[in-house]
Amino acid sequence: MSYETILYEKKDKVGIITLNRPDALNALNSQVFSDLYAVITEVENDNEVNAVIITGSGEKAFAAGTDIKEMETLNCNGAREFALGVKKTLDKIETLKKPVIAAINGFALGGGCELAMACDLRIGSEKAKLGQPEINLAVIPGAGGTQRLVRLVGSSIAKGILFTGKIINAETSLTIGLLNSVVPPEELMDEAMKTASIIASKSTVIMGLLKDVVNTGRNLDLPSALAYEIEIFGQCFATEDQKEGFKAFIEKRDPEFKGE
Ligand code: HXC
Repeated sequence: MSYETILYEKKDKVGIITLNRPDALNALNSQVFSDLYAVITEVENDNEVNAVIITGSGEKAFAAGTDIKEMETLNCNGAREFALGVKKTLDKIETLKKPVIAAINGFALGGGCELAMACDLRIGSEKAKLGQPEINLAVIPGAGGTQRLVRLVGSSIAKGILFTGKIINAETSLTIGLLNSVVPPEELMDEAMKTASIIASKSTVIMGLLKDVVNTGRNLDLPSALAYEIEIFGQCFATEDQKEGFKAFIEKRDPEFKGE
């Protein structure tokens, strides 16, 4: 299927989504979120895709935010509706049972940074520039920037980023844990593919459970989260892949997972 504002291709069990509005620094308008929702649904139903990469087209940006020109004239209800639409897509990414990697090739600001934070891993090029500059427009982040950022880097560092609206470079983003790794620009997609391929080679059914336990557990108190972990650990033993994984280890061979 083809989409209006994004490109989509499949390569070795990895789905690669490219935000494709380079003239607007891949600013995220309603059509982008609708296309993203549709492509993630396609990935969800595609047994040939086990991991996803999201990146931006052009040299400058992953996404420089949600589309300021589209948002300019919104009233309170319109703004809430817009944010709910964005949330629907980011929730879809976060709850997708397949890991999603943001390959950040340039600016990831506002909604762009929020999209990256809804992904599971964030790999940055040395040219990546991240931030939540909404305060400069006299609004607050509306797509998880006040919440996911705090959970990722802690409230003290998050408040520094949110309150100043400053753009931070790749090195700083790595230091504070906003990025998982940083590579030269020309190596970004290879590095993202390498990581995605490792993930794609694992048991898909267990990977889905693993992502869910980490995400669900983050929203629970520790005793409940640990109990949930044990519940799902038990569920692993109802799968064919668990039996194959253990058998292959004992027989000193590579496992052949079926995702069942
Ligand atoms: C719409 C945008 C845009 C955006 C850039 N453009 N960011 N259009 N929405 N978020 C457009 C510009 O208008 C311009 O179009 C073209 O992209 C190139 O941008 P320039 O500003 O000329 O490039 P440059 O001088 O290199 O500056 C890059 C930049 C700057 C620093 C990234 O573009 C910038 O500050 N952008 C806005 C960043 C931002 O505030 N993001 C947060 C948005 S609010 P023309 O047609 O003039 O050539 C948000 C809220 C999320 O994300 C909440 C969701 C519910």
